Amino acid sequence: MTSSSDALRSDPAPTPPIPGAGPGLPVVDRVDISDVTFSLEVLHPQMARAARAGQFVIVMTHPEGERVPLTIADFDRDRGTVTLVVQAVGKTTREMQQLCQVGTDLHGMAGPLGVPSTIGSARTVVCVGGGLGVAPVYPQARAFHERGATVIGVLGFRNADLVFWEDKFREVCDELILCTDDGSAGIQGLVTDGLRLALEQHPDVAEVVAIGPPVMMQACAEATRPHGIKTVVSLNPIMVDGTGMCGGCRVRVGDQVRFACVDGPDFDGHAVDFADLRSRLGRYRGEEAQALDHWYHACRRAENAVADDLIPAPTGQGA
Ligand SMILES: Cc1cc2nc3c(=O)[nH]c(=O)nc-3n(C[C@H](O)[C@H](O)[C@H](O)COP(=O)(O)OP(=O)(O)OC[C@H]3O[C@@H](n4cnc5c(N)ncnc54)[C@H](O)[C@@H]3O)c2cc1C
Ligand code: FES
Repeated sequence: MTSSSDALRSDPAPTPPIPGAGPGLPVVDRVDISDVTFSLEVLHPQMARAARAGQFVIVMTHPEGERVPLTIADFDRDRGTVTLVVQAVGKTTREMQQLCQVGTDLHGMAGPLGVPSTIGSARTVVCVGGGLGVAPVYPQARAFHERGATVIGVLGFRNADLVFWEDKFREVCDELILCTDDGSAGIQGLVTDGLRLALEQHPDVAEVVAIGPPVMMQACAEATRPHGIKTVVSLNPIMVDGTGMCGGCRVRVGDQVRFACVDGPDFDGHAVDFADLRSRLGRYRGEEAQALDHWYHACRRAENAVADDLIPAPTGQGA
């Protein structure tokens, strides 16, 4: 009988992307935001021209890589680039963290996918981003600002070391409320505290956009519900094809079943069934842990092979 660790030992090591090889998409800039979060600016002029706030792409790092959905966190039509902000949480995103350096190519990027956010006629809006959700809410804040709305940004992080894109938000927000769990930057508290403060100070808020972990988006929707303020959230269910064919990204919104990849990812936060979303997100936890373990062992084997080449194995007596 073969144990799972025996099976893992015989698996091939990951294939790195080859800089400048083939029709790949060059990574032209990378910023390491924290130990686990990094941004990649990728050259893709057509994507940069077509992208709208709220859309996402499906990325393949290398030819054998898994396809992962990532929000278009920024796009620059003059530079012909799109920016992705990635949190290394599992096998593929950790592999991206390791392999995607400036000068390498992404193997593929499909998109822009999803329905662009509706930048409506609200005169005062609050854009709330929690943790990694700060990045995807940025294009919406900028789009509202360009449309002439008064934009109040509420950004939440665990501590001051994790704060990113504060300057970018200050450029497009009329007011910015920074929140940290430990009070090391801005006010001490969760984004819901910042949101409540914004609603107290601005009774004319007509729309709230909230992006972050499901529990955070749900809490924001509950904070606005008593006020009857339109609240848009961006859902991140597991996606496979991203084109409405597989059903993987099914979400419940009100009494309807919707596919987040083609009907969203933006939905009415007051109608989303967050419990269903959380339960579906956890369905493959065992397989995800196994894939990470598998990849980790492959990396260790590759490192050992390099070390064996550099330091010849001892020979002779006493070896
Ligand atoms: C529309 C959309 C936009 C997203 N934008 C971003 C982003 O801008 N930055 C970012 O870091 N992450 C984003 N995500 C989440 C990202 O796709 C997952 O973190 C990634 O797929 C995890 O893959 P993994 O192999 O590293 O981790 P795994 O160990 O495979 O998974 C870790 C967790 O990520 C989620 N996940 C796994 N596979 C998928 C999948 N195919 N689709 C969606 N979620 C998955 C699950 O909740 C899982 O528990 C987005 C997801 C969606 C649906
Ligand atoms: S990802 Fe397959 S239907 Fe949405």
